[in-house]
Amino acid sequence: VQQTVKSMGITVPVIMHLDHGNYEAAKECIEVGYTSVMFDGHDLPFEENLEKTKEIVALAHAKNITVEAEVGSIGGEEDGIIGEGELADVDEAKQIAATGVDYLACGIGNIHGKYPANWTGLHFDRLKELAAEISTPLVLHGGSGIPKEQIQKAIALGVSKVNVNTECQLAFAAATRKYIEAGKDEQGKGYDPRKLLAPGAQAITDIVKERIAWFGTPEVK
Ligand code: 13P
Repeated sequence: VQQTVKSMGITVPVIMHLDHGNYEAAKECIEVGYTSVMFDGHDLPFEENLEKTKEIVALAHAKNITVEAEVGSIGGEEDGIIGEGELADVDEAKQIAATGVDYLACGIGNIHGKYPANWTGLHFDRLKELAAEISTPLVLHGGSGIPKEQIQKAIALGVSKVNVNTECQLAFAAATRKYIEAGKDEQGKGYDPRKLLAPGAQAITDIVKERIAWFGTPEVK
């Protein structure tokens, strides 16, 4: 990673993070030297999630690698039916936090992907309960499509990291579609991937800049 960072002239800190890894993937990424791994054991029986999180923390911390764990589940839309994500249990969250994880993803009504029209919003009462009991930085997954005011409130109440993916993908797809529908890929060498993919890459950059401002991310000097 450091070699690439240097050769590309990147001046801000860069990390390689595994998102939602299972036990095997987390172990493999620790072995190959990622900076950070998420072990997502939320779909395992709780005791197994706890035990495996402990194991991953020990392996990762021995190599100065940070660990994110997940408790409860981050919801997702299935056949348009689920209206809200599951809420993390405070006691379970405390036990996972006690393993020494560096960040903890907890369900507070957040959902990966697009939010359904009947979504009822984030559950700030549960977030307050979690933040009161746990000093581990909390992670808000499913950051796409949550209104700015709700994200800022969640940050004020203790969320330290917000994951945003779908919004970047949608922005990329829309900009690429616009380029092709305007026939630009057929003009000159507009089919060159460096040209064809540039509007999408710019659209992602614009979204990321906007979210950095929303989240109050400190500027890296
Ligand atoms: P979205 O794709 O809903 O923004 O979620 C991203 C995420 O939480 C990745 O872990």
